[in-house]
Order: sequence, then structure tokens, then C-alpha cells
Amino acid sequence: MNTQEITKTAKTLISQDKGLLAMDESHPTCNKRFAALGIPQDEETRRAYREMIVTTTGLGESISGAILYDETIRQKKKDGTPIIKAIIDAGIIPGIKVDMGAKDLAGYPGEKITEGLDGLRDRLKEYFQMGARFAKWRAIIAIGHGIPSQTCIETNAHALARYAALCQEAGMVPVVEPEVLMDGDHTLQQCFEVTEKVLRTVFNQLYSQKVMLDGMILKPNMVLPGLGCPKQESLDKVADATVNCLLQAVPAAVPGIAFLSGGQSSELASARLNAMNIRFKSRLPWALAFSFARAIQQPALEIWHGEEINVPKAQQALYHRAKCNQAARRGDYNTGMERPIHDNTVYKHQI
Ligand code: 13P
Repeated sequence: MNTQEITKTAKTLISQDKGLLAMDESHPTCNKRFAALGIPQDEETRRAYREMIVTTTGLGESISGAILYDETIRQKKKDGTPIIKAIIDAGIIPGIKVDMGAKDLAGYPGEKITEGLDGLRDRLKEYFQMGARFAKWRAIIAIGHGIPSQTCIETNAHALARYAALCQEAGMVPVVEPEVLMDGDHTLQQCFEVTEKVLRTVFNQLYSQKVMLDGMILKPNMVLPGLGCPKQESLDKVADATVNCLLQAVPAAVPGIAFLSGGQSSELASARLNAMNIRFKSRLPWALAFSFARAIQQPALEIWHGEEINVPKAQQALYHRAKCNQAARRGDYNTGMERPIHDNTVYKHQI
């Protein structure tokens, strides 16, 4: 294991107020997002979409790493250049989703366990040879009547730590993603309690399985009321709850926390990250960054709509969202940045 390289990669992923772009939707998830907009759901369309993303000029100004799906890391641009080369040439570190999805947890209705440990050591070796330098594994925890169970939390935490240890053995930075879902009508306080318990359990497992904390990134949910909760909370309340929860459970040796967006609107995800950095940035041991999929991609996907002619405008939208989130890392984001994107919008990289 090259510990120096691993810690260097982890540091680079959170440096210069950049963040991660998750573009690792599995076929079913990607197809679901395409279907909602009437976009064809086939391999060539997924390839064209991912090419649109990685050829966005200037993306590397605000994105440090891009998380790919197995299909994408093997695909090429139309001109024959491997997608992974286009990413590296843009100054972005390639990463790879390595879990095989969340499946029903036997004996625990309504709960999931993430699979994919069998054969992972060999798959990581191959991805490293292809150029990936970090990986992602997502566990999901639902809040509901009588759940999450201790068993669900423990089995997922155990799997996350097994994955993380294998990643570091292979020379890659593990992005450890225990996601407490937003679905449901639970309160902010309930989300706080579950998230704290999940994170404590995950870090116990990471410690017991000898994962180097300075060579990983944590990718958690923000602490939020459920989507169906009648009492939604202000930016400041969400910022305080999220950071206070993380302070209870995340060791100072972890270099960065890169949030998932989890179904929040793009603007809210940026505004909440911004509020956290305004209120706490100078007092925290770790960086507060982003690793969004929907909150960066969704506006661009809607503009692109599967049509080549829309590529420039979609790329503008993608670039814009990435920049908004970089501003949020600095505590410099404001809703004034959310002006409509016109044809004549000129960004810095185009001047
Ligand atoms: P969202 O930001 O859309 O929640 O996706 C993040 C992610 O990578 C889920 O695994």
C-alpha cells in the first residue's frame, strides 16, 4: 500500500475549494432519470450524455474528481478518446463506483444491505490499472416505523469498512458513503439521531479494520427533516444540525467530508453547504465539500434532453452548478448566482 500517494490523493480531492462530481448512476438509475425526460435509455445515449459532461470546458476549475460507473470507465468519446483520458486531461481525478447496489436485507423488511465485496480485490486492481485513484461504496439507511435496526446499521458499516480497507490496499482512496435517506416524514431531530448512530458505527468499524482515516473521504447525508415532514427547517438550522452531528462522530484525522445531495434541489444543496461554511468553516478539523450527482447534473440533463444541439447550453448549466458549489465551499454562494442562463452568458474560461 502506498500510504503517501493515498493521503495525497485524498488531500487533492478536497483542495482549492473543489468537490466531486458523482456521475456513476447504475443502468437502472440512469435509465430512470432519462425515462422521466423521455430520453432513450440505451448504451449509446448514456455514452453521449457522459461525453457531454466530461468535455465541459473548465470543469476542472471546480471539480477535483469524477466518480464513474463501470460502463463509463470502459467507454470512448465519439472521436475514439477514452472517457477516462478526457477526465485526466481535464485535470480531474477519475474515481469508480464499486458497490453492486443495495439489496433487500434478509429478515429485515424495508431495509437494505449493499453488496459487492466478493471479487472486489481483483476489480479494484483492474480499475487502478485503468487509472482510477479513488472509489465509492454507498450504503443506504431508511428511517421509518421501527427502522433502522441495529442489524442494518452494523452490517452496512461492516461492509463499508471491508470495502474501504480493500481500496487502500489497492492504492485507492475510499469514499465512504453511508446515506440516511430523506424519504419519510421524520423530523430533523430524528435524522440527527440516526445519522449520529450510523456514523459512530461506521467509524468504529473503520477503526477496527485498520482503515487509514487520513486516506479516506466521508460522503454523508446532510441532517435534514424527511421530505414528507410538515416542519421544514431554515438553512441555519440545517447547517447547525449537520455540523454538530458530524462533530460528535467524525474523527479530526479525516481530511474531508463531501456531502451527497440526496434529492434536494440544486439550489438548496448549494445554499445549505454555503451556510455550513459561513458558520463553521474556520473552526472545523475537516473540509466541508460536495460530491453531488443530481444537484450538479439535473439542470444540465434537462437542457441536454438527449439532443446533440443542446450540448453547449447543457455544459454551461453544468459548469455553472459546479461553480455555485465551489462558491458554497467558500461561503460565497448567494441566490444572485442563480440567474437564468442566457445564450450570451460568458464565463471566465470563455473570455
Ligand atoms: P446525489 O447527490 O444525487 O444524492 O447522488 C450522490 C451519490 O453519489 C449517490 O451515491
